[in-house]
Amino acid sequence: MKPASLAYPLITSCLLFSTSAQLIPFLKQRNSPAPDRQSPLMDAPGPAIPPSSPDPSGAVIADVIDREQNIGIFSSFTRDVDTVARRLEDSSQNTTVLAPENAAIMGLPRKPWQDPRDYETFGANAYDGADGESRAHKNLRRFVEAHIVPESPWREGQKVRTLAGNTVWFESKDGKKTVSAVPCRWPTSTDYCLQIQPGGVEIVNVAAKVANGEVWVLKGVLNYA
Ligand SMILES: *[C@@H]1O[C@H](CO)[C@@H](O)[C@H](O)[C@H]1NC(C)=O
Repeated sequence: MKPASLAYPLITSCLLFSTSAQLIPFLKQRNSPAPDRQSPLMDAPGPAIPPSSPDPSGAVIADVIDREQNIGIFSSFTRDVDTVARRLEDSSQNTTVLAPENAAIMGLPRKPWQDPRDYETFGANAYDGADGESRAHKNLRRFVEAHIVPESPWREGQKVRTLAGNTVWFESKDGKKTVSAVPCRWPTSTDYCLQIQPGGVEIVNVAAKVANGEVWVLKGVLNYA
């Protein structure tokens, strides 16, 4: 738990979160899309509750994802990955975003853009210089895409592949809704797998429901392979 740092503005928590100066460009706050259009943020309807009609104003996920402070880190990542940023702006493609809470990302044993294999291959300076930056960006992209479901509505039990290619589904059990992902295939990525509680990662709420999909808030990070 890092309640104090989470209370800071997003940019501050991102800077605290970053350990490496050259990675800060990934995290810098971009000009927020000006969301003049009104869109209701959902309070806490679970995903199994029949969705009400999406925001009639035509807002898209990119317009609203910034408004949720508890997923500010993930939301800033989505703007750093072009494939994802474009998709969330595109009203012709539906998406369910599985956004881990800030605390879950900050609690990871390593940063989402770090991969132990890079350290094995390139040593301690694996993320220095232009090559290092591109390596980090590739890892960050995989992490973000593993949380992007190219379907909405997404039905309970329906197995889908995320943009990263990992298979995910969600279910309701014991009054909780959880998302599960197939187990990690990469032995070196097991620290992501360790984030998975048996039965999956809890869905906290549906934060937004707009024309091209929904933003769900997750208590943890999904593994990917
Ligand atoms: C996309 O989402 C909208 C709003 O929920 C829905 O009406 C529409 O059927 C969805 N389209 C597809 C292809 O799933």
